[in-house]
Amino acid sequence: MQANQVKMEDIVSLCKRRGFVFQSSEIYGGLAGFYDYGPLGVELVNNLKKLWWQTMVGEHDNIFGLDGAIIQNPLLWEASGHIAGFTDPMVEDLVTHKRYRADHLAGVDSTDLSELTKLLKDQRSPEGNPISPPRYFNMMMKTWLGAIEGDVATAYLRPETAGAIFTNFINVKETMRAKIPFGIAQIGKAFRNEISPRDFIFRVRELEQMEMQYFINPKAQEQTYQAWREFAWNFLVNKVGIQEKNLSWHEHSEQERAHYAKAAHDIYFNFPQGPKELWGTHNRTDYDLANHSRLSGKDLTYFDEINGEKYLPYVIESSVGVGRMLLAVLVDSYSVENINSESRTVLKLKPVIAPYKVAVSPLLKNKPELVTFAQKIYQQLKQKFVMVMWDDNGNIGKRYRRQDEIGTPFCITIDFESLDNQSVTVRHRDTTKQERVPADKLVDILNKELKK
Ligand code: GAP
Repeated sequence: MQANQVKMEDIVSLCKRRGFVFQSSEIYGGLAGFYDYGPLGVELVNNLKKLWWQTMVGEHDNIFGLDGAIIQNPLLWEASGHIAGFTDPMVEDLVTHKRYRADHLAGVDSTDLSELTKLLKDQRSPEGNPISPPRYFNMMMKTWLGAIEGDVATAYLRPETAGAIFTNFINVKETMRAKIPFGIAQIGKAFRNEISPRDFIFRVRELEQMEMQYFINPKAQEQTYQAWREFAWNFLVNKVGIQEKNLSWHEHSEQERAHYAKAAHDIYFNFPQGPKELWGTHNRTDYDLANHSRLSGKDLTYFDEINGEKYLPYVIESSVGVGRMLLAVLVDSYSVENINSESRTVLKLKPVIAPYKVAVSPLLKNKPELVTFAQKIYQQLKQKFVMVMWDDNGNIGKRYRRQDEIGTPFCITIDFESLDNQSVTVRHRDTTKQERVPADKLVDILNKELKK
């Protein structure tokens, strides 16, 4: 698969121009790996999260929600292997930006940086690319608890949301009377001290994840793993509306797999910088529960009353970044078209995720009778749809261009004919076709269209 034809700089420029994404602390020169979502971005983010939550939790009787704390007892991260797993001497592939254990690459059992630097002088990565010099690297972001100097404890901002899901396995099982198989889903921020944040919001240091851990009988690992791979693909295509031609599968090799995974399949999206990971499905086996059980001293085994079987559940994980999904959606839906020898930029977003569903305009903003009628329609639609925009700035052509650029599926215009026969025009974003409809049928018509 080739890199997407859409250019990252066009997406970055649209995001800034139209209020989707801003560089964080921009007036101070920004901060690498951190971004703020603007008024349009936050609507799109919320729509993606709502869609995921509705599909994951709302449509499954055996998947329950959780909102764990960002900071947990540091022992959790010791058990999960994140403290140990991220403090090795690492080198970075300068082309793919994948990191490798320097000692593994050098084939020695040493963590001495000067020795490793010498050994790796002419070494290339497993992909055959040049590498950075080795250095110690811990992706965990540290913070300190306790107000008095000298009386502080080191804590970590979570590097993945999954941690609290494992430690709440028993709580959720008992409070929800859950029987295996069941899942726990969570949406929340995670933090990674990435060496090289890059590609706009693709790789950031403060990210948001939508994760679900599915607790199963180890015997069901294969079929469950396949089912959650399928779920991810179907969600992206059928719910979010991403074109299948921009998606592909990537199976992790042994070196690529995270320390907790026995198997991992990513869905790659065809980003402007090339096909890259969008959504991961992992078989985490009983890695996490076994380690939490060992370190906490708590029994996390499950007793299956029907089969009389006792076991430590395996976990199949489904994990996707919100920001990465937003970037994929923008790239996938972005198009520049020539209409009547005029160019327009349009985001062909599925209505369910579009930040604004409808824009309402009086044809002329200095004609009070048009404005009054249009305001009536606007107020009526605002009761029914989230979100609706009032737009009376510039001429009607400019308004359409503006709404196209932010992906608003429908523009409603009130003109002089509206005053005569109580009708309005509905303009469709993708076809640019306009139809005249009775004002009292508008809600029904939009309701139907917005479900598509
Ligand atoms: N709990 C499993 C886990 O965290 P991961 O593959 O490291 O697995 C899951 O991350 C997803 O989170 C990725 O598929 C990606 O969508 C998103 N993600 C990971 N690191 C990211 C980063 N630095 N910036 C933005 N998104 C990231």
